Amino acid sequence: MKKLGQLYEGKAKKVFATDDPTLVIVEYKDDATAFNGLKKGTIAGKGVINNRMTNYLMRMLEKNGVPTHFVEELSDRETLVKRVHIVPLEVIVRNVAAGSLSKRLGLAEGTRLSRVVLEYCYKDDELGDPMVNEYHIAAMGWADDATMKRIAELAMKINDLLCRYFKGINVDLIDFKLEFGITADGQLVLADEISPDTCRFWDSTTHEKLDKDRFRRDLGGVEEAYQEISTRLMGE
Ligand code: TMP
Repeated sequence: MKKLGQLYEGKAKKVFATDDPTLVIVEYKDDATAFNGLKKGTIAGKGVINNRMTNYLMRMLEKNGVPTHFVEELSDRETLVKRVHIVPLEVIVRNVAAGSLSKRLGLAEGTRLSRVVLEYCYKDDELGDPMVNEYHIAAMGWADDATMKRIAELAMKINDLLCRYFKGINVDLIDFKLEFGITADGQLVLADEISPDTCRFWDSTTHEKLDKDRFRRDLGGVEEAYQEISTRLMGE
């Protein structure tokens, strides 16, 4: 597989073309941003951890019937994935109140939600990824009703699988963000990443934060937290 020119550079990853038009290579960076890019920094080793962890979890999800864009891990920071048209939504799944939900509804962080909450944000940095609902999504043509039904089903299934998995390493999955894409042959697949950048992980016993909130909130021990969750999940 030949790595060709760069197609796109995002805040945490770069995407490269390959000699197969249906495949691209993602390369994970150590760059970290928060608050829509207002806060910038570097988390040493993050790219390697996020690449390996995403691939580890996507393989687990695939085994359990969740289609993903994952094809093959090429190196510490590079992964071959299916080329997709990204549905321009951030799909947020919440089990416990935290972050923007706590702020919006005045709920103490750590309040268990009596049901899983799904939220959608329109992916647009200039607009600050505004929250939208299914009426906006249908009216703007970002995804059709059948696609949204499938996205919601997959998001719930992914949540069940991830919660169970993380419980086994004494971690509570508080909330996380997913992105979905559509392949050239029309298949809806899980895309992007599943990592401490895109999930809130709290130690089940101490409630210590093991995710990017340590960077967002200047809590210190950022690299250590990424390493800890990585070791608990994948060993070494
Ligand atoms: P929030 O509480 O800030 O809305 O975040 C909810 C979840 O989504 C949290 O696990 C972090 C993740 N997230 C992203 O992956 N990217 C983003 O740009 C934001 C705002 C949140």
